[in-house]
Amino acid sequence: METKRIIIEDRNHIKDEELKEAASILRSGGLVAFPTETVYGLGGNALDEDAARKIYAAKGRPSDNPLIAHVSCVEEVAPLVKEIPEAGRKLMEAFWPGPLTMIFPKSEKVPYGTTGGLDTVAIRMPDDPVANRLIALAGVPVAAPSANTSGRPSPTTADHVWQDMNGRIEMIIDGGPVGIGVESTIVDVSSAVPSVLRPGAITMEMLAEVLGEVSVDPAILGPLSADVRPKAPGMKYKHYAPKADLTLVEPGTGTERESGAEQVTGAEQKTGADRNTGADPETGLDETQLQAMICKVRELSREKIEAGYKVGVICTDESRGCYTDGEVRSIGARKSQASVAHNLYALLREFDDLGVDYIFSESFPKDHLGQAIMNRLSKAAGYKIVK
Ligand code: TXA
Ligand code: MG
Repeated sequence: METKRIIIEDRNHIKDEELKEAASILRSGGLVAFPTETVYGLGGNALDEDAARKIYAAKGRPSDNPLIAHVSCVEEVAPLVKEIPEAGRKLMEAFWPGPLTMIFPKSEKVPYGTTGGLDTVAIRMPDDPVANRLIALAGVPVAAPSANTSGRPSPTTADHVWQDMNGRIEMIIDGGPVGIGVESTIVDVSSAVPSVLRPGAITMEMLAEVLGEVSVDPAILGPLSADVRPKAPGMKYKHYAPKADLTLVEPGTGTERESGAEQVTGAEQKTGADRNTGADPETGLDETQLQAMICKVRELSREKIEAGYKVGVICTDESRGCYTDGEVRSIGARKSQASVAHNLYALLREFDDLGVDYIFSESFPKDHLGQAIMNRLSKAAGYKIVK
């Protein structure tokens, strides 16, 4: 199949003409990749099981992993759900359009082919003007997973989508690089206490402010034992994985054992207030912790370089000057979580292209957007974390 690529001239003044063909492809059961504020999505008609099948095939994704239905306005939600619980209403009002997906009990209208056989449906109303207008013009809810080949980092530019999807889908809409860079927050509002299934740019702190009580699915915090099922089926797959072997280095308190998954699970989120005293309020780390972490990254990368491997180092703008060996790349500014989230997936793809064997990365505090950043990095590392 030949994949057509169109470029949006001005994201803030979209002409319907530009999106007409894309909308018509979606309506007639074809696939179109499009930008959203989080990552690029691979869209198909959410009410059409054949379109869902095509999405799974194009991504090479297991079909028990449900898709998010994207809508362009709140009125489009009612036909897709059995009910909108109070918590869902509050969150819609506070955060839609935006990077928040909610899980509702599904109506008969939504096929099981879209929900991976579940009786619930995930719904999101994106804020991106291209996405929003496209969905409105299509006139159907648009099922859209991230537009990457299953297992690869999510795409944050149209070029990333092109690398993975050229020849597999009808069209790619190039709307420039995305703003946020990590996928939407997922909150299950179908249960008594709303539960966060995937952290994102709508942070725990923001959710708690609106809802009061929020719980966190254990799949977010660390690797699951074989008998536990994450509520978001997608969280069980090894996601976001770079080709190289990635290790995260976390600052230790000096009391913990080396490495292992338990520490991730046990690493509770710390707020700015309860981090170590003496910590820089912007980075949450004191200078000694920061230096120890940098030394460890340097030591681990040197060992591998001396053994003849090609090594990548993930540092920050602030620590760039501390590294001399290996392919050293900054993921963003430690004092700007948004910059780190924005660059994360593009950097993992860059290391894929460089063909490094090992990557060693600095880590980040887990408050605010840091929870999503560390969730994605920890998963990419297969929870390989050294203190
Ligand atoms: O930011 C985003 O959400 C992007 C853009 C394109 O909107 N989409 C995205 O979709 O990240 P995807 O398919 O890559 O991730 C969807 C996640 C998966 O982990 C899936 O298991 C979960 O949402 N999910 C979907 N429907 C669900 C349901 N009914 N119950 C629980 N989890 C669900
Ligand atoms: Mg995905």
